[in-house]
Amino acid sequence: MLITALDEMQRWSDTARSASKIIGIVPTMGYLHDGHRSLIETAARECDAVVTTIFVNPLQFGAGEDYERYPRNLERDVAIARDAGTTVIFAPSRQAMYPDGYTTTIDVGPIAQRFEGTHRPGHFRGVATVVAKLFNLIKPHVAYFGQKDYQQTLVIARLISDLNFDITLRVLPTVRESDGLAMSSRNVYLSPTERADATVLYRALQAALEAIARGERERLHVEAHMRSVIESVPTAQIDYVAAARAETLDQPDVFVPGEKIVLLLAVRIGSTRLIDNALTTIPYDSSST
Ligand code: PAF
Repeated sequence: MLITALDEMQRWSDTARSASKIIGIVPTMGYLHDGHRSLIETAARECDAVVTTIFVNPLQFGAGEDYERYPRNLERDVAIARDAGTTVIFAPSRQAMYPDGYTTTIDVGPIAQRFEGTHRPGHFRGVATVVAKLFNLIKPHVAYFGQKDYQQTLVIARLISDLNFDITLRVLPTVRESDGLAMSSRNVYLSPTERADATVLYRALQAALEAIARGERERLHVEAHMRSVIESVPTAQIDYVAAARAETLDQPDVFVPGEKIVLLLAVRIGSTRLIDNALTTIPYDSSST
C-alpha cells in the first residue's frame, strides 16, 4: 500500500497498534538498493507490519550539496520495497512534511558535531528532525538503520533515548558490492573509472583493520594506514579519516585492549562524496595473556 498523506499514515498506524501489531519502520531517502532490501527483509521477519519511508529530506542537505540531483524513482522503489516484504510505503511530499511556517528542529548535541557534523553543518539536525517526525507519524515499535551511516545511528540512538521514544533501534551490517564498495544510492553518480577507484574506501578500512590485528594501538598510526591507501588514488580526496571510540566518538592517542573502536572515512571520488566505516575491538596482546 502506498500512502502519501500524513493523516492517512497516522490512521493506519493507530489501527495497526490497536490490533496489537508490532510495527517496524525503515526510513530511507529512496532509490533503494540491496542495503535497504536487507533492512526491509529483516524488519518483515521480525515485525507484523513494515513501513518503509521514502522522502528526500531537504533539511539534511547543505547549500551546494546534491538535494536537487539526488536520484529519485518512486515506481522502482515501490516495487523493490513490496518485493522485500514491506506493508506500507510512506512517501510524503516536501510541502506536507515542511509546510509554510515550519520552524522546529532537533539538535542532539555533541555526538552530531564531529566528523560528518563538521563537514556537513546542520546535516544531523535535519536527520534528527525528520526521523522524529516519522517516529511521531508512524509510531513504530522497532526502527531499522544501516551501519553504513554509523554516526547517524549514534545520533538516532541519542534521539530515541533523550526524547523517550518507546522504540527499539536495530542497526544492521553494511551491505557491500562483491569488491567491497558499500552500497549507497549515491554510487550511481560514479563514472566507470571512479567506480573502480571507489573501492579505495574499503581497502583503506581493511589496511587499518590488519594493522590493528598486527598490534597497532596508536590512533595516528591507524589513521595513517587509511590515509596512505586513499592517497594512492589520484581521484580520491579525503574529507576525514578517523579512528575513534565506537560509542562516544572520542579520540584517545592510544587505544587499549578490549576497547570497541570505529574507523570512519569520508572521501570524495571526483565530485561524489562517499562514506564508509568498520567496527573492531582492540585485541588483547597475545604476549600479555
Ligand atoms: O539514511 C538516510 O537515508 C536518511 O538520513 C534518513 C535516515 C532516511 C533520514 O532522512
